[in-house]
Parts: sequence; structure tokens; C-alpha cells
Amino acid sequence: MDNKAELSSLSAQTKLMPFGHKTVYLNGQYLPLTEAKISVMDRGFLFGDGIYEVIPSYSGTLFRFDEHMERLDNSLSSIRLANPHDSAQWRDILTPLLDANLDQSIYLQITRGVADKRDHAFPETVTPTVFAMSSTIVPFTDLDSGAKAISIDDTRWALCNIKATTLLANILLRQQAVDNGCAEAILLKDGYVTEGAASNIFAVIDGILITPPKGGEILAGITRDVILELAEQNNIAYSEDIISLDALKTASEIWLTSTTREIVPVVQLDNETIGGGKPGPLWQTMNRLFQAYKRASHE
Ligand code: PDD
Repeated sequence: MDNKAELSSLSAQTKLMPFGHKTVYLNGQYLPLTEAKISVMDRGFLFGDGIYEVIPSYSGTLFRFDEHMERLDNSLSSIRLANPHDSAQWRDILTPLLDANLDQSIYLQITRGVADKRDHAFPETVTPTVFAMSSTIVPFTDLDSGAKAISIDDTRWALCNIKATTLLANILLRQQAVDNGCAEAILLKDGYVTEGAASNIFAVIDGILITPPKGGEILAGITRDVILELAEQNNIAYSEDIISLDALKTASEIWLTSTTREIVPVVQLDNETIGGGKPGPLWQTMNRLFQAYKRASHE
């Protein structure tokens, strides 16, 4: 297909799917992605002065919506920005982006808006920029064989609990993993594991499922919370505790969890085999529980 034909086919698709993946929300309007524009003076663009959320939607139902709204509130109050909408308004804004036939991740972002000059300090009046879009969740393909990871020093800041759009450290760390043929970077502060570049971490050590505790060093993942609840309900021994890299290397299982990849079993860390080199039995159990929980959430 030549360029012109491709463009006209794209524009036909946009017309056919007014609320499909080509339509996004920006400051009160739904419009084609290509028409969504922000000012170069937006503080999100100039400073990364904004926060975001990623909410899964299964068959058109937002998953753990209240919990995502709570984390959004926490991120906003941490950067001293008022939430421009209440939860009901957010639901109304996001609903037209949902597709009942798809599993999607809904991305929403709020920045401290446009200022008339570039100044680090907050502008006197703020009209936040609000953006939302949906993407189809592409399942992580290597679930049967598992993923590889490398450990890298955590070069991020002290406020990792804020879901900040300022992700330069995270993307450099993830890219370093990719450059080494790995799916994720497992991050270390002072020899202890924090999380992945875009995921939380779980390890099975001496038969106990362990994940580092919440705090400034990790993002409080919603998937992480669901896994801990499922462990509690199903009598799986677990603890929220620090994990050294040495201890992690003795783990029989390592998992990385996130909205977009769900629960990814790690079978190789720094070129060393983890467990039997394939997804472990507790991962099989937890993944089954998680999929059942997901299904129940939209039935
Ligand atoms: N990231 N830790 C970090 C640093 C993350 O970026 C993410 C998710 C998580 C897992 O959180 P949750 O289970 O709520 O998705 C932990 C998202 C998916 C992203 O940035 O695209």
C-alpha cells in the first residue's frame, strides 16, 4: 500500500470507529489522536510536571477502579495538584474510550498545565491538562517459557510512590535490560531489591512469597495488592519484607507484576537459572487465581 492509500485507509478506520482506539480525550473533548495537541509551554512537556495512571479494562469494565482513583489522588496530592474531577466524573470521561470486546489499558495523565513562562516554581493560576487514551493489552507472549531479567542499580529518586510522568530513569533502566536481551530490569538500592523498571517484584524464598514493602522506593502496584489479597484468601504464606540480591538469587520463583503484563515469571536472572528454569508451581497457582479474579470482576 502506498502512503496515500494507507492514509486514506487510516482515516476511513477513524470514521468507522469514532470511539475506537484512534479517539482520545483531551481537556473536555474527544478527538482523533492526530488532532490532540498541547502547547509547548505545557509543564508536562517542559518539566515532566505531571502524574499518570494506567487502569486495565476487561471486556469494557474498569478493573479496580476505586483503587486506581485512590492512587491517582495520592499522586496528585504528593505533587500539590488538585484533582480536576471526582471519581464519577472520571468514570464518565473514560467510559467512551472502553471497548466491550477488548482487554485494554487506559492511560490518563494530568499535568500542571500551561504557563506563560518557563519557571520551575508553580504558576500562580493553574488549569491542568487532562489527557486519556486507551490501548489494547497485548498479552505477554513468553508465559509458558518465562522471561529473563537483569539486576541494575536503582538510579531513581526518593519518591517512587508517586506515579510521575517523569520516567527518564525508568526508561534508561528498561532499555538497558532490553539491550541485554531481557524483559525487565530488577532494581537494587544498597544491595536490596526495590521493584522492576515498570513492575513490582515477588520472590518465593524458602516456600514463602515475599515482596518489598510499600514506601518511597516503590510504586504501590494495584496488581501487587490483588496478589497479596489472593495469597491471604488462599492460605498462601506471604510476607512484605526486604529482599537482598543474594537472597533473590536463591529464590525458587521470581515474578514481575503490572497492569499491562500481569504476572510474568522470571526464569533467568543475570544469566543464572531461577528455580527449574521454567515458570514455577506457585506462579501456576497464582496466575490461575488472578485470571479467575479478573473474569469475576466483569461478569
Ligand atoms: N507501570 N512499579 C512501577 C515502577 C511501574 O511503572 C508499574 C506499572 C508498577 C506496577 O503497578 P500496577 O500493578 O498498578 O500496574 C510498579 C505501568 C503499567 C506503566 O508505567 O505503564
